[in-house]
Amino acid sequence: MRELLRVEGLVTRFYTDEGVVKAVDGSWFALEADEALGVVGESGSGKTVTALSIMRLIENPGRIESGRILFRGEDLLEKPEREMRRIRGKEISMVFQDSLSSLNPTLTIGAQIARVLKYHTRLTRRARWQRAVKLLEAVGIPEPAKRVSHYPHQLSGGMRQRALIAMAISCNPKLLILDEPTTALDVTIEAQIFGLIGELKDEFRMGVFLITHDLSVVASFCQQVIIMYAGKIVEEADVQELYGNPLHPYTLGLLRSIPPLEEEAERLESIPGEVPDLINLPPGCNFSPRCALTDERCWHEEPELAEVSPGHRVACHRVAVPVGVGEIHG
Ligand SMILES: Nc1ncnc2c1ncn2[C@@H]1O[C@H](COP(=O)(O)OP(=O)(O)O)[C@@H](O)[C@H]1O
Ligand SMILES: [Mg+2]
Repeated sequence: MRELLRVEGLVTRFYTDEGVVKAVDGSWFALEADEALGVVGESGSGKTVTALSIMRLIENPGRIESGRILFRGEDLLEKPEREMRRIRGKEISMVFQDSLSSLNPTLTIGAQIARVLKYHTRLTRRARWQRAVKLLEAVGIPEPAKRVSHYPHQLSGGMRQRALIAMAISCNPKLLILDEPTTALDVTIEAQIFGLIGELKDEFRMGVFLITHDLSVVASFCQQVIIMYAGKIVEEADVQELYGNPLHPYTLGLLRSIPPLEEEAERLESIPGEVPDLINLPPGCNFSPRCALTDERCWHEEPELAEVSPGHRVACHRVAVPVGVGEIHG
């Protein structure tokens, strides 16, 4: 497999009146060309900021402080804004968190797709419209020739999400970023949407960067998983390894909080406490205030992300690292 994206030492901060928000605090990961990478973590762990950093869409008071974002070998952080505008929507596209509500209510679905095509291609007006119909068909919208002239409010939530995906893949991107694409949808529709994204991924040969707080979605859709907590990657592994041999206490907590199929929600165990304030992070391990396994070291020393077996990395003092496998990143 070919490497599509490599993020090295990404640090993104927001300089607010209250203080410096360490939203992404040194992330390292890579994504293969036709792989789906799941990024999981509670709200406020830095998932969206990671995605927006890749898209170079961090705005004031935010700043990408350091790191490299290699997309097909070239560092996006060194590109002029003009070139980023060409890359966004064409090479890398993103379905934003809560974008269902941000579809333009005054434009038809077709017009919104045609707009993207107009910006990035030389297709004629007529060809753009025809392609919009084709795209709606590709994302499984029934009667696409009719639906293309509908306004967003005339479509159901699931259909609107499909239209957004159609827009995102309209220029055959190499990388598709999905930020919690199904949160507003019910479970059946969610399953359909992920079925669709999986098909499109193979058909269009895209890498997918999928942000979710749902580990069960990742299990069925992704090959690789990153667990984020308070701006840091705390565990990374391929899907089989992560579910078969989860190591970080936070990952274990997330796995325990997946509601077992057909069981009552009361049985659901969630992790006590909440994500710390990213302005005033605790000393030592960020997770220590919520962790049941802490010892002295956890309260004073920040754990490094270390490889415990090939491809499986964990940042936890309480996980034994085999002799000879050193830490790889800080
Ligand atoms: N524009 C902004 N200004 C200040 N802080 C921000 C801004 N955007 C995000 N943050 C902060 O960055 C942290 C990570 O946010 P985010 O990436 O959205 O989390 P997630 O997507 O994992 O829920 C949060 O503490 C959030 O408040
Ligand atoms: Mg988010």
